[in-house]
Amino acid sequence: MKVLMLNGSPHKDGNTYQALEVVGKQLEKEGIEYEIFQTGNGVIRDCIGCGKCNENGCVFTDDTVNEFVAKAKEADGFVFGTPTYYAHPSGRVLAFLDRVFYSSGKALAFKPGASIAVARRGGTSASFDVMNKYFGISQMPVVGSTYWNIIHGRKPGEVMKDDEGLQTMENLARNMAWMLKCFEAGKKAGVEFPDSKKERFTHFIR
Ligand SMILES: Cc1cc2nc3c(=O)[nH]c(=O)nc-3n(C[C@H](O)[C@H](O)[C@H](O)COP(=O)(O)O)c2cc1C
Repeated sequence: MKVLMLNGSPHKDGNTYQALEVVGKQLEKEGIEYEIFQTGNGVIRDCIGCGKCNENGCVFTDDTVNEFVAKAKEADGFVFGTPTYYAHPSGRVLAFLDRVFYSSGKALAFKPGASIAVARRGGTSASFDVMNKYFGISQMPVVGSTYWNIIHGRKPGEVMKDDEGLQTMENLARNMAWMLKCFEAGKKAGVEFPDSKKERFTHFIR
C-alpha cells in the first residue's frame, strides 16, 4: 500500500517537506510506502472553471497537476502538506488541489486523506480547516491524530524542534496505516464500496 503526499510549499526541503518526511518514515515502519510530490516553485495555474476536464485530469498540461492525478489513481491514501501564509494555506497548494479535485476527485474517493499545516506561529488551524474541506466533498475518510495536524517552525529544519508537533505527525502516520489496513481487510472480507448517488443537484434552495 502507498500513501501519496503533496508538498504545498515552494521550498522542496523546507519545513513542510520535513514534516511530511516524519509522517513518511513512520508509515514505512508500519509497512506502508510513501512518496512526496513537490508542487515546486514554478507557475501553477488556477482552475478557470472551463469544464473541459478529461480522463487525464485538467485541460492545462503545462504544470504537474495531471502527473499528480496519474499517481493519485494508483495511491491508497493521501497527505497534503501546506505552509501557512497569512493564516491560510499557500496559494499554490489551493490552485493545485482545486484542479486535482475538480477534474479527478473520483481518483481519490474512498481513500483516506489527511492534511498538515506548518507555520512559524499562527494560522495553522485555519489552514488545516481549509485543506480538510477537499476530503468531505470527495467521499474521503479523514485521518486525525492526537492533536490537529500542525507543526511549528520558521527557518527550514525548525519543525524538527517542535516535539509535540513531531508526535502529532507520527501518530497521524500510525492512524493512517491502521485505517489503510482496516480498509484492506474490509476489501478482502467482501465489503463493497457504498453505492453513493449523485443524481440530484439543487443550485439554489427551493
Ligand atoms: C508569504 C508568507 C506568509 C506567511 N504567513 C505566516 C502566517 O500567517 N503565520 C505564521 O505563523 N507563519 C507565516 N509564514 C511563515 C511560514 O509559514 C513558515 O516559515 C513555514 O515554516 C514555511 O514552510 P516551508 O519551509 O515548508 O516553506 C509565512 C511565510 C510566507 C512566505
